[in-house]
Amino acid sequence: EFMREISGLKVLEQKLKETLNLEDVFIVSGDSDESPWVKHEMGRACVSCIRDRLAANTIVAVTGGTTIAAVADMMQLDCKNLHITFVPARGGIGENVENEANTICAKMANHTNSDYRLLYVPDQVSSEVRDSIVTEPSVKTVLEMIRSANLVIHGIGDALTMAQRRNTPETSWNTIVEGHAVGEAFGYYFDEHGHVVHKVLTVGMQLEDLQKIPHVIAVAGGSSKAKAIQAVIKQGHTSLLVTDEGAARELLKGI
Ligand code: BG6
Repeated sequence: EFMREISGLKVLEQKLKETLNLEDVFIVSGDSDESPWVKHEMGRACVSCIRDRLAANTIVAVTGGTTIAAVADMMQLDCKNLHITFVPARGGIGENVENEANTICAKMANHTNSDYRLLYVPDQVSSEVRDSIVTEPSVKTVLEMIRSANLVIHGIGDALTMAQRRNTPETSWNTIVEGHAVGEAFGYYFDEHGHVVHKVLTVGMQLEDLQKIPHVIAVAGGSSKAKAIQAVIKQGHTSLLVTDEGAARELLKGI
C-alpha cells in the first residue's frame, strides 16, 4: 500500500474511477505490453477483488484470453465452504486450449476447491446450430447457470487483434473495419463511443445478461488496449476494472 501511495498509483486509480464512472479501479505498476509478468500482477489484484465479493453459492462466469488465464494462475483461495461454481461465459473460441474459457474455468475451480460446469459448444456457430444446441439438456442447464451468474470476470481485446486471432470471415472483418471497431469483449466489437458494430453469433452470455449481474470485473492492461478498454467500459456494464499503469496513463491522456 505504501509503495502504491508513493508511486502515485492511488491517484491514478481515483482519476480513472471518476473519468470512467466505475465503482472501483485497481492499477498495478508496469505495462503488460512490455513485461508479460504484469498480467500476473493484474491476476493477483483481481483475485483480491474477487475474494471480497464472494458470498456463499456464488456463480462465477469467466471468459478466455491470456489475461484471464493469468488470473487463474494466481488464484489460490480456499472456498470449500462457500459452494462456489465456475462456468465459462461462452463456448470455446478456437483459442489455444490453455486460453479457452472452459480451461480457465476448470483451473479456477481446482485452485479454489470449488465446482465447475463446462460448455461443450464452439463459440462461433451458425444460427441453425445455435437454435438446436441450446435445447440440449446438458447445454441448457449450463446456459441457465451462466445467466444467473452473480460475478463475471472478463477480458477486453483490441478489436483487430481479436478479429485476427479468431480467423474472422471476410464479411465480418469488413464490418469490423468499416465500423471503426476499437475494442472487443464477449464476442461484441465496439467503436470508440461504445456502440456495437459487430457481434459474433455465440452460445453463452450476451451483453444484455450483464445488466442483472452485480459484479462485472474487467481485467485488461497494456497501453495498446487503452482505446479498447474505454470503448467497452462506455457500454456501462462494467463495475470494476483491474488494469496496469501502461493502459491507465494512456487512457487518461485521451480524456
Ligand atoms: C478472449 C475473450 O478470450 O480474450 C475476449 O473472449 C477478450 O472477449 C480476449 O477480448 C482478451 O484476450 P487477452 O489474451 O488479450 O487477454
